[in-house]
Parts: sequence; C-alpha cells; structure tokens
Amino acid sequence: MDGIDNGQGAAGQSLQREQDSLSILADAIASPGSRHEVRRHGRCGMSVELTLEGVYLSYRQGTTATVALEYVTLSVEHGELVTIVGASGCGKSSLLNLVAGFLRPSRGQILLEGDLITGPGADRCVVFQEHALFPWMSVRQNVGYGLRVSGMSRAGTRERVDELLALIGLTKFANYWPKALSGGMKQRVAIARALANRPKMLLMDEPFAALDAQTRRFLQDELLNIWQQTGTTILFVTHSIEEAVLLADRVVVLSSRPGRVKEIVKTDLPRPRDENSVSFAGFRRQVAGLLQQEIRESQLLDQAAG
Ligand SMILES: Nc1ncnc2c1ncn2[C@@H]1O[C@H](COP(=O)(O)OP(=O)(O)OP(=O)(O)O)[C@@H](O)[C@H]1O
Ligand SMILES: [Mg+2]
Repeated sequence: MDGIDNGQGAAGQSLQREQDSLSILADAIASPGSRHEVRRHGRCGMSVELTLEGVYLSYRQGTTATVALEYVTLSVEHGELVTIVGASGCGKSSLLNLVAGFLRPSRGQILLEGDLITGPGADRCVVFQEHALFPWMSVRQNVGYGLRVSGMSRAGTRERVDELLALIGLTKFANYWPKALSGGMKQRVAIARALANRPKMLLMDEPFAALDAQTRRFLQDELLNIWQQTGTTILFVTHSIEEAVLLADRVVVLSSRPGRVKEIVKTDLPRPRDENSVSFAGFRRQVAGLLQQEIRESQLLDQAAG
C-alpha cells in the first residue's frame, strides 16, 4: 500500500484530513485574556511553542520512496508569525500536515510545548487554500460548528460566533449560505471557524492564493489584525515572497526537495509595513535570492523525474 514510510496509509487521507480538521475544532481552550498573555510572553519571554527536531518524511508509492523533508529543525515561539517559502514540491504542505498531526515523521520528532505531537488536536487548526466550508450550513453555523461539537451551550456559541463575525467583519452575513459569499468572504469565515476554539496555533497553507490581488491584500491586513488581537501563533505557507515578508516575524526558506531549512530570515521591520520602503525591498531581494537557486534545482529535479 502507498503511504508514508512510518506505515500510515494514504488511502482516504483527504477524507481523514477533512474529518480531522473538524475534530480539531473540538474542546474550547483558554480565555480571551490568556491569548493576550501568550502574545506578550512570546514577544518578551522568547518561550518556544513548537519544536521540530531532525524531522524526516518519506512517502512510499509502491516500491518508490519520495523523501519530502530531510532533517528539518526549527523552533517557533509563542505568538510568532512564521512564513514558509520554497519551490513547488519541496515539502511545505507536508511540513504543515506533520505539525497538524495528519502525518507522522518518518524520523525525528515534533513537540508542542514540550509534548510530542502524535495526532490532530484542538490546539492546532488548519486553514487550506480552499475554504472547505460546509455548504449546507449558514455562516453562523459554520463558525459555531466546532463550539457546538465541543459541548458549548447555544448561548455561549452564539456569543462567541458574534465576537468572531465582528472580528472578520461579516456580522451582516451571519445568515448567508457559503454559496452567496465571495471567495475572500468564504476564506474569512474559514479563518473565523479555525479561531473559534482559540487554538494555540493556526496552520495556514496558501490560504489566500486563490484570491485576486486586492482581496488578498485586504485579508493580509485582516489576518495581521486578528493575529495581534488574539496572540495566536501562526505558521503560514506561501508562494509569494511579498506576502512572506509582509506578514512574517521570520521567513523560513526551504531548499528544493527534499526540503531542509536553507535559511531563516528575521524580518524585523516595524508594523504596519511599507512595501515600498527600501528596507522592505531589501528583505524581498534577500528572500528572492535564496529561493532562486532552489527553484532552479527543483525544476531540474522534476525534469529528471519526468
Ligand atoms: N500523499 C503523498 N504520497 C506520495 N508523495 C507525496 C504525497 N504528498 C506529497 N507527496 C510528495 O512529497 C513532495 C512534497 O509535497 P508537498 O505537497 O509537501 O509540497 P509543497 O511544497 O507543498 O508543494 P506546492 O508548493 O506545489 O504546494 C512532492 O514531491 C510530492 O509529490
Ligand atoms: Mg503545498
């Protein structure tokens, strides 16, 4: 059977992923005040939330093995916003899926606040490129779903959903069906749904890639607002160097497959960031330079495989 080298099957993985992303919405954690506490702690206390130690991931397809990640070692602090860039196929989504607990490393380990990640949990929520809202539920029901599953009362759910809808600016759309929303609105609902149970970490896999440039820019600002208000730690995968530099405390540049941490760029620019500033352009150039060689190598790899 195809799968990853630690023996987990690939069959039904996407269905499993969907179910898992629902189950990780379970269990309410922490009060709103404590999120701010976490954020302050992250800024000043430099306390580590996530640690990847020598993580290796190999997928197996029949007799062929693809090594997607090789000895990835990385620490992420509480309340940090880390972006991940790298050539297509270098293992970015695999990395997020490992942290989400949908996959297990073939070697190495991943720790969340010192505890080994062995599967999905309410402390991590994933936002994918496709919003994955339930089409048969209204906006309010979508956002509140995980809260209800975790046993929150109707009144409590209503209050929390109102708070989240205000946070994403969609209060007036509470009773709309997903099909009546624009792509950007759907993605905002997906973010609100992911935040509902106050996860410690938000894992975002190219969440704005399918959106037009204007909507994307708007949502980047929204995300930064939400991040600053909630103190949630964010791991954010993107193909856009601009987006990576705009959002990040640190940009992790992965090498071509198998993905390794090639370099980490600390983008210590004041916020809000001015994309037209000389210092922003400097970081953009630095990340682009690091990526260029990896993209070339990745293309050669793909040609050789073809
Ligand atoms: N379920 C799977 N079975 C076998 N190989 C896989 C599986 N998922 C990913 N891979 C392989 O692992 C490598 C990394 O894939 P991954 O999706 O993590 O890359 P990525 O960096 O997210 O790419 P992109 O930027 O195109 O989204 C690729 O070579 C891919 O073909
Ligand atoms: Mg991907």
